[in-house]
Amino acid sequence: MIYSRITGTGGYLPDKVLTNYDLEKIVDTSDQWIRERTGIRERHIAADGQNTVDLAEQAARRALQAAGRDPQDIDLIIVATTTPDRVFPSTACLLQKRLDRHGCAAFDLQAVCTGFVYALGVADKFVRTGSARCALVVGSETLSRVLDWKDRSTCVLFGDGAGAVVLEASEEPGILSSHLHADGAYEHLLSVPGGVSQGYDSFKDGKGFVTMKGNEVFKVAVNTLGRIVDETLEANALDKSDIDWLIPHQANIRIIQATAKKLKMPMDRVVVTVGEHGNTSSASVPLALDVAVRDGRIKAGETLLMEAFGGGFTWGSVLLKF
Ligand code: COA
Repeated sequence: MIYSRITGTGGYLPDKVLTNYDLEKIVDTSDQWIRERTGIRERHIAADGQNTVDLAEQAARRALQAAGRDPQDIDLIIVATTTPDRVFPSTACLLQKRLDRHGCAAFDLQAVCTGFVYALGVADKFVRTGSARCALVVGSETLSRVLDWKDRSTCVLFGDGAGAVVLEASEEPGILSSHLHADGAYEHLLSVPGGVSQGYDSFKDGKGFVTMKGNEVFKVAVNTLGRIVDETLEANALDKSDIDWLIPHQANIRIIQATAKKLKMPMDRVVVTVGEHGNTSSASVPLALDVAVRDGRIKAGETLLMEAFGGGFTWGSVLLKF
């Protein structure tokens, strides 16, 4: 039996930090409101000319280094992103060029904030079926480019960043299961309404920016993430107490706390980066993983539950032995 195992993690955040106090000067908001409603204190913003592939490359190189791998070892690249640099080629192909790796499969995966969880689930299937032995799985976003910086209900929530893992074939698990879901009936609650096939005019009048019915998204997210936790535990015949670490999507501390409560998990077993990163969409889970691996909290052999929820709606989880 072939399993897939994470053998290295990497993360990258742009240098520029935008605090809640900085935002007070841009829109009618306050540090107190943002912290109390979301848990966010600051977020990182990509510099002019710094694009999604630039962030992805940094995170990817760090993950490769941690895994002791060279770009030539990679036989699959998946980049989860909703903010690709171009209509085409994919950001994965642009990353492949940066890494000077030629010929292996490379593609983007778009599942918004659930993108990395989807990408890890897909890469796991490639590895388990023998189609890949060493996959590079990246979540990279420049969400700041699709925010309306005059809309206080959205611009305070998001940030830029990238996270990556190297996923390799192994005789030992590894990824135990992945659970991926979507329901497009909710597309109107969270979206960027403009799009290429509608013509470039569709980006006018603010339609190129994130629009969101925040409190409705909040309710569905809490319920859905509660259900995915049950589904994941049941599929693996595990008890809540078997999970060592929860690595949730970092959108809002209140959503994270609700999932932790459902798992009866103390918050010191939950990796929380939302305060410093904001919501970095598909980068949020791999960035949180990387932070907790590098600071020594997450150790080899521990059981991790990753979960995410995002536009679509999409949602999913990955349960794994680290
Ligand atoms: N600063 C100050 N006030 C703000 C504000 C801001 N940045 N944004 C909104 N408000 C105001 C609203 O205008 C509203 O004012 P009103 O009562 O006078 O109409 C009030 O705050 C409450 O707004 P509401 O949207 O009900 O707040 P909330 O408690 O639901 O918190 C979110 C808003 C967005 C933080 C919260 O709903 C949320 O996190 N939702 C999920 C978002 C998410 O996770 N999205 C990504 C999924 S991947």
